[in-house]
Formats: sequence, C-alpha cells, structure tokens
Amino acid sequence: MYKCALILAAGKGKRMKSDLPKVLHKVCGKEMVNIVIDTMKKSAILDLNLVIGKGAELVKEATKNQNVSYSLQKEQLGTGDAVKCAKKFLEGKKGTVAIFTGDAPLITEDTVKKAIEFHENGQYAATVLTSIIDNPEGYGRIIRKEDGSLKKIVEHKDCNENELCVKEINSAMYCFDIQSLLDNLDKIKNNNAQGEYYLTDVIEILESQGKKVGAILVPFEETLGVNSRVQLSEVSTIMRNRINKYHMENGVTIIDPLNTYIGLDVKIGADTIIYPGNVLEGNTEIKDGCILYPNSRIDNSVIEKGVSIQSSVILDSEVGQNTTVGPYAYIRPESKVGNNVRIGDFVEIKKSTIGDGTKVSHLTYIGDAEVGGNCNFGCGTVVVNYDGKEKHKTIIGNHSFIGCNTNLVSPVTVEDNTYIAAGSTITDKVPEGAFAIARARQVVKEGWTKKKGLSK
Ligand code: UD1
Ligand code: CA
Repeated sequence: MYKCALILAAGKGKRMKSDLPKVLHKVCGKEMVNIVIDTMKKSAILDLNLVIGKGAELVKEATKNQNVSYSLQKEQLGTGDAVKCAKKFLEGKKGTVAIFTGDAPLITEDTVKKAIEFHENGQYAATVLTSIIDNPEGYGRIIRKEDGSLKKIVEHKDCNENELCVKEINSAMYCFDIQSLLDNLDKIKNNNAQGEYYLTDVIEILESQGKKVGAILVPFEETLGVNSRVQLSEVSTIMRNRINKYHMENGVTIIDPLNTYIGLDVKIGADTIIYPGNVLEGNTEIKDGCILYPNSRIDNSVIEKGVSIQSSVILDSEVGQNTTVGPYAYIRPESKVGNNVRIGDFVEIKKSTIGDGTKVSHLTYIGDAEVGGNCNFGCGTVVVNYDGKEKHKTIIGNHSFIGCNTNLVSPVTVEDNTYIAAGSTITDKVPEGAFAIARARQVVKEGWTKKKGLSK
C-alpha cells in the first residue's frame, strides 16, 4: 500500500531556552528531525512532509538534502491544526499516512514497520502507538471501551478522576488511513482546557462514525520526546548506549561505553579497540584493527586498517594503513596521510598529502604541501606557507631528509633523495640528490668571555 509520513516540527520548544528550533538540537551528532527522517526512510516511507513553523527557514536549511516537502503552520494552534496545514500534501493520496514528531528521535525502524503492518493488516482507520507507564502525568490517556477496544484519547488537562488513573498513554505517533483523516480534520474543535486543536480528537470522531480504530503497544523508551535540555541529555544517553552496543555486537571493543561518543553515521570495523574519551563524528569510518587510545576527536575522516591514534584531532581527512598519529597531533581538513606514516607529538598537518613511510615525529607544521614517501622530518620543521597575503604550495619528493628546525619558505620544491641541513631556511629549489644548507656560518671567538669580564 502507498505510504507517506508527516513529521510535526512546528513548535519552538520554549523550555529548551534556545535560539535554535527544538528539532534542530542534536542527539549523538545529528539533528533530531533528521534522525526521525532517516528512520522513516529506513522503514520504507519515502514520501515525507515536515510541518514547520518556528524557525521554518532554519529547519528547511538543515533538512535540504533529505528530499522532503514542507507545510507551513504559521501559528501553533495544536497538533490537529498542524496536520490541517498539511492538507495539500495529503489530498488526492490513497493509503497510509504515518504521523510522528520531530522531537522524539528514539523511535526505531522496527517499531515503525510493526505499527504500519498492524494498521494495514487490521484495516484500521486510525492506529495509535501507546505505552503503559507508572507515572502518566502530562500525557494524553488512552480510554478504552468495556470490550477493550479503543474509544478516545483524553489530554491530561482534560481528564476526569477516573481517566487520570489510566496508565496507558498516547505516544503522539499514529498511522491513519489518509481519506479517513482528511474527512474529519475540520471537525476538530478547540473547546478544551488548552484551547488547542487536538489531533487526538480524530480518534473519538472516527470511533463514533463506527470506523475501526486501534492501538499498538510500543516500548515507552522509543516514544520519549525532548522538551528540555535535561531530556535532551537523557535521550542522548539512550541513543549513545544503542550505538555503542551495536558496534560491540559487530566486533568492536569499547573499553568504557559510558565515556565513548560515537555519532549515528560512524562506521567501525571489527577488532578495533576504543579507549575512553574518544569522540567520533560525522561520516567517519574507522576500518578494522585500529586502536584509538584515549581522548581523540575524529570528524568526517577515513581511518584505514591498523592505525593507532592517541589524544589527537583529525578533521575531514584520510589516514592510511598502519600509520600512527599522536599524541597531540592535529590533522586539519583535506589532508591525506599515507600508509606506515608516523605523525608524532605536536605535529600539525593542513591540506597536505604525506606519502607512505614518511616520518614527521615531533613539533612540525606542514601546510599546503605535497610530501613524498620515506621522508624524514627533523624536529621543529615549519612549512612557511603564508606570506601574509596568500597561501603557497610546497612540494617535497621521496626519500628527503629535512633537518631539524628547517623552514621551507613556499612556494618551494625539494626533489627526491635530498638532504637539508638542520637550521636551514630554504627559499630555492633543492634539486634531486643535492645537499642544501642555508644558515649563517658559526663564528668562534677564543677567550671572549674572559676579555669581557663575564667569565665565572
Ligand atoms: C501530545 C499529545 C498527547 C501525548 C503527548 C506525547 C495531542 C493533543 N496530545 O501532547 O496525547 O500524550 O503528545 O508526548 O496531540 N506541534 C506542532 N504544531 C502545533 C502543536 C504541536 O507542530 O500547533 C508539534 C510540536 O512541535 C511537537 C508535537 O507536535 O513536536 C507535540 O506537540 P505538543 O504540544 O508537545 O503535545 P503534547 O502536549 O506533548
Ligand atoms: Ca501541548
């Protein structure tokens, strides 16, 4: 059957106390609304419409690569009104519309699929996803008839004493038959405690028309919504545990899952070991058999097999097989580090390629450079890539030995099999096979301290 989904994301989320619309706050590195969109797509719902209002332009911008359409709700008059704003999206369609909210990112593909299957197999006009909890305070209550079938949903603020005792709650996630929903949206009234148009009223309306309405129990955890920063951290903790568990089940050792932060889109190969304090973000991919010692941040980078990294930052870059990085290295965007390379302590690499087997062991800056394989950089080498106006390129061939404390004033080329003396400031090309020295000759004045009266 044809399926589409509405994702309600028009509210501001006052309690977040934020300039950012609530649904753009991130859980494990991704905006909540994008997590919900991804889950819908994985559940084979591809025709998606977001109801936006507060911060509409920002929400559009953050979801622009998701191939979704939008409905605008100018004023937030309630969930029923929000769905009304998406009438144009729904009209002329036959089948099922799933309705979810952009602030409840823990819903899983498995549960969405089960709910849709339940709804379609049972030929319901509407299906509500519900949970049973000890403290239903604040939630809409699921009211059933004597035979156990669904009757209506009553919001907490509108409940009588008996209804307040009901522990089955509305998750605010639903499946509707599109036509049944469209036929009744205009019948929703706002004569309730909050003066809002409640989507939940459609259930009672359908029931009174003799239509089949159903409820499916789902794990409460998956329905948790975020209204505050405290809830954002609670939901993030649950998501983080899920992600870490997934990787451990795939053969990754995580020494302390409570202190390991892995983004939703990160891929990690088997037999990689992750020590505490690592933050893996964006589309990072860590291949098999790597060791991430404590405290690195790796964003949007590809780390090939057998790499070991410690206390370093790697952004938008690639690191080749069996290379070691850190401690305290900084690999900045657009760098490509080869295989069997050593990037040691206090080394910064920016927009550069480093060939296989090259060693950059300590206190070195390499920027806007193409470095060949099997070179050795002495301690304290600086690529002088910036003249105060423009950045220039440095090219270094294979098997070059760059002595300690060398400056390479760009643009400059150092060819294969060269040797640069320590302390040199290189401004001109060093041709293949050459030795270059560019420093003042040492002057020795015998007996000088005594003559000056400085001798102790
Ligand atoms: C809603 C349900 C309640 C359920 C609870 C679960 C209704 C009437 N009530 O209550 O039964 O137990 O969720 O958390 O639906 N939104 C809009 N436009 C609006 C109003 C809301 O887009 O005009 C969006 C919000 O951004 C939010 C979602 O809809 O993402 C839920 O709205 P909210 O007002 O928080 O509903 P609750 O009072 O929590
Ligand atoms: Ca409300």
